[in-house]
Amino acid sequence: MKDRDQWNSKVGFLLAAIGSAVGLGNIWRFPYVAATNGGGAFLLPYFFAIITAGIPILILEYTMGKTFRGGAPVTWARMNRRFEWLGWFQVMIAFIIAVYYFAIVVWVVSYIGFSFTQAWGADPSSFFVEYLGLTDSALNLGGIQTSLIIPFVIIWAIAAFIMYKGVSKGIEKACKICLPILFVLMLVLVIRGVTLPGAVDGLEYMFKPDWNALKDPSVWVAAYGQIFFSLSIAFAIMLAYSSYLPKKTDVVNSAFITATANHGFELFAGIGVFSIMGYMAMMQGVPVSEVAGAGIGLAFMTFPTAISALPALNALFGICFFGALFTAGITSLISILQAVVSGFHDKFEMSHKKAVTVVMVPAFLLSFLFITGAGMNILDIVDAFINNIGIASAGVIEVILVTRFFNPEKLRQEANEFSNFSIGRWWVFSLRIVTTVVLGIMLFLNTKDYLYNGYGEYASADVNVFGWGTILFVIVIADALTTMKGKDGYRDLDKIAY
Ligand code: PHE
Ligand code: NA
Repeated sequence: MKDRDQWNSKVGFLLAAIGSAVGLGNIWRFPYVAATNGGGAFLLPYFFAIITAGIPILILEYTMGKTFRGGAPVTWARMNRRFEWLGWFQVMIAFIIAVYYFAIVVWVVSYIGFSFTQAWGADPSSFFVEYLGLTDSALNLGGIQTSLIIPFVIIWAIAAFIMYKGVSKGIEKACKICLPILFVLMLVLVIRGVTLPGAVDGLEYMFKPDWNALKDPSVWVAAYGQIFFSLSIAFAIMLAYSSYLPKKTDVVNSAFITATANHGFELFAGIGVFSIMGYMAMMQGVPVSEVAGAGIGLAFMTFPTAISALPALNALFGICFFGALFTAGITSLISILQAVVSGFHDKFEMSHKKAVTVVMVPAFLLSFLFITGAGMNILDIVDAFINNIGIASAGVIEVILVTRFFNPEKLRQEANEFSNFSIGRWWVFSLRIVTTVVLGIMLFLNTKDYLYNGYGEYASADVNVFGWGTILFVIVIADALTTMKGKDGYRDLDKIAY
């Protein structure tokens, strides 16, 4: 296929893959999920999920990508024509995440400016009320927040600039610049954090095991839920990234390196975040559980408050925190855009630039929804449905297709052929049995819960439009794209051995 880029080096690929995996999820999602699901005891189910799902799927996607060399739809179609739909389903999930992930990056960056004009320590809830203009429901849009427009346009411009440059000159380079910066910023925060009084209490809150939690199935479900999002697996990203690899790449060690770096960074960020929160709790004379907010709230509200409570250099540490979120976010954002771009580029043989335009213009327009007053509400609902229903089903269908309608032994051989360290049969077993069952149960429980109980405090109209509506939208567009005729009818399909 003409106009198809390739990574400059294996290190470049690894940096890009790590850049994708290490994202806002490592900084605001993991610490919170761990702390509320048994603390230190969560690390056990999480480790189990890494071994049985995270690393096996990463190896699977890397092997598929470098073997079939296409974005998700073309890669799946090359394995079996009837698998193409899954590729588009994954691409459309990626598209939706791109739209709202972008909004989070915009909030993060613009909030840096906001918090300075407010002086640290201003009531953080003003972020929601004054800054985001948050309305009381997802359907009450409440107008566009004008203060967000400039950061909105700037971030889109940065993302578009990187994307137009392409895989090796754009994405690879951006990751080479951003990752070291991210690491240094996080290091500064961790060092500051662990040397504060009260840090121990924060760390204890995060790491102290509550062994009873292991008996609770929802803890295991949370571990599986976190792993897919965190490693960027099952929604087209790693398939696309590995399709720009030379065939001879050692994918097994690449998968281990990516997973280790991602989870190492998760723990690292957790240490930074919770030690500073421990300090804040101590200053306020309350237990850590009281100051630990949830998810996005943790990043936006609690943490700025915690930073404002630091004894000195608050502005510096504030910049470090948001700088870390920004660099982590941008390298993930471009990975998810590329997952969608490669889908169009490869099936319809568009030029790279045209594919970027086709993807980014609608994404740009749709993301305006998130700078309205309803933005945070819409994001909350869409994120829950896309993760707990969308990604979970994409993951289940992926492992079922590979292990039951395709011979996974062929992929195992392909993976092993160029790898120093061979993967054994446990790999197929993990995918065929463990991941299928756990993920299947998880999907069933989530779907049932949302059907019977709705989601959060939202009215059912909100949940229908932005939750189920999003899932329906993804399915309908995926169907349409699958039906459309590709330019070359996958002309190199037959050249591939399988
Ligand atoms: N892996 C990312 C994280 O942990 C999540 C992500 C990446 C989400 C790319 C979307 C796109 O934050
Ligand atoms: Na991650």
